[in-house]
Amino acid sequence: MGEPPEDPFGPLVAVHEDFVDKLTELEATLDEMMATRETREGNDIILDEAIRFFREELIPHLRLEDEAVVPAIEKAIGRYGTLVTVVMYEHEEIRRGVAKFEEARDDLRRDPDSWQAIQEVNRHGIFLVQFLWDHFRKENTSLFPTARKVLSADALRNVTERISAR
Ligand SMILES: [Fe+2]
Ligand SMILES: [Fe+2]
Repeated sequence: MGEPPEDPFGPLVAVHEDFVDKLTELEATLDEMMATRETREGNDIILDEAIRFFREELIPHLRLEDEAVVPAIEKAIGRYGTLVTVVMYEHEEIRRGVAKFEEARDDLRRDPDSWQAIQEVNRHGIFLVQFLWDHFRKENTSLFPTARKVLSADALRNVTERISAR
C-alpha cells in the first residue's frame, strides 16, 4: 500500500529507448543495402536480429500494453475519439508491418541478389522504423501523461504491478 511510485510507466519509457537503438541499427543497415545494392554478411546478421527483436521483444511489448495499460485508460476516458483508439489502431498497424517485413525478408533470403527484394525489405523496414519512432513518442508524451492524470492511485498501482510482473 502507500503512495504509488514516482512513475509507473518508467519501465515502458526505458524499453522504448532500447527499442529506438535497435531501430537505428536496422535503419543504418537498410541505408547501406540501398547504397551498395547488395546484402553483405553484416547486413544479413542485422536483418535476422531485427526479425528476432520484432518477434521476441516488440510484439510482447505491444501485448503487455494492450493487456495492462490500455484497458485501465479506457475505463477512465473511454475508447472512441480518444487516444485509446489511436494506440490500439497503431498496434495493429505495427503487427501488420512486422508481418510484411518478415515476408520481404524471406523473399530476400530466397533470392539474395535481387535488387527488387532489397528495395522491398527497405520499404517495409523504413516504414516500421518511422512508424515506431512516432508511436513511442506518442506514448511517452501523450498516452502515459494522460494515464498519470486520469488513473486512480489503485489503478496506477495495478498497472505498475502488471508491468513489473511481465
Ligand atoms: Fe505501444
Ligand atoms: Fe510502447
